Amino acid sequence: MKGVILAGGLGTRLHPLTKITNKHLLPVYDKPMIYYPIDALVKSGVSEILIVTGGNKAGDFLQLLGNGAEFGLKHLNYTYQKGEGGIAEALSLAEHWAAGDSICVILGDNIFEKSIKPHVDAFRAQVSGARILLREVEDPERFGVAEVHGEKVVSIVEKPKQPKSNLAVVGVYFYDNHVFDIIKTLEPSSRGELEITDVNNAYLRENTLRASVLQGWWTDAGTFGSLLRASNLVAQGGANNP
Ligand code: G1P
Repeated sequence: MKGVILAGGLGTRLHPLTKITNKHLLPVYDKPMIYYPIDALVKSGVSEILIVTGGNKAGDFLQLLGNGAEFGLKHLNYTYQKGEGGIAEALSLAEHWAAGDSICVILGDNIFEKSIKPHVDAFRAQVSGARILLREVEDPERFGVAEVHGEKVVSIVEKPKQPKSNLAVVGVYFYDNHVFDIIKTLEPSSRGELEITDVNNAYLRENTLRASVLQGWWTDAGTFGSLLRASNLVAQGGANNP
């Protein structure tokens, strides 16, 4: 399994913080945001990592991270997303690099209290299809929201005005290599982006989507409120804990 960290986009919800730098280089407590998803992958045994960057400070990632020695890596891979085509478009840039392998995708602004290793292991055992992680939240309308019947996911709606549950789809996704065929069939959403929710719904329709509920806290960090929350949570007990 290979790891893909999506750290593109223009981070407009964080203006003016992101006017001169990329969102994923902003501090979350004592480290740049991008450190957390890299650490999450490395601690899960995923050491082949591609970072999809974007914006006009993409070169700063190389300066900051180099070949990943700080994380015990020998090598890091980088690619560049132009503009804001969405998460699924950013992921499509990983096709050549994935070279037929399955992938663990992490949104570069998602931070987890506990290691995601159990889920990485679960997808290794699942072999094909896709796997998503869910977490109860108080503000589901900010996220992709899953409706579940028992262990089965019935639907996923992106930022619903009237959420059918309080289960947000968190920003870690596991896909087999079929994901790149699915992305090629997508149409832009009303916000003009190729949506990761549409990718997950395609797997849902094919009946190969599995989901599990995450233990421990989870937060994104793409708004002022969530960025502050992320720093406070990390300050209290760190991230990616065993
Ligand atoms: C994205 C996804 C959404 C997911 C969220 C997790 O939203 O589209 O389904 O719940 O990440 O952070 P965005 O941050 O692009 O609004």
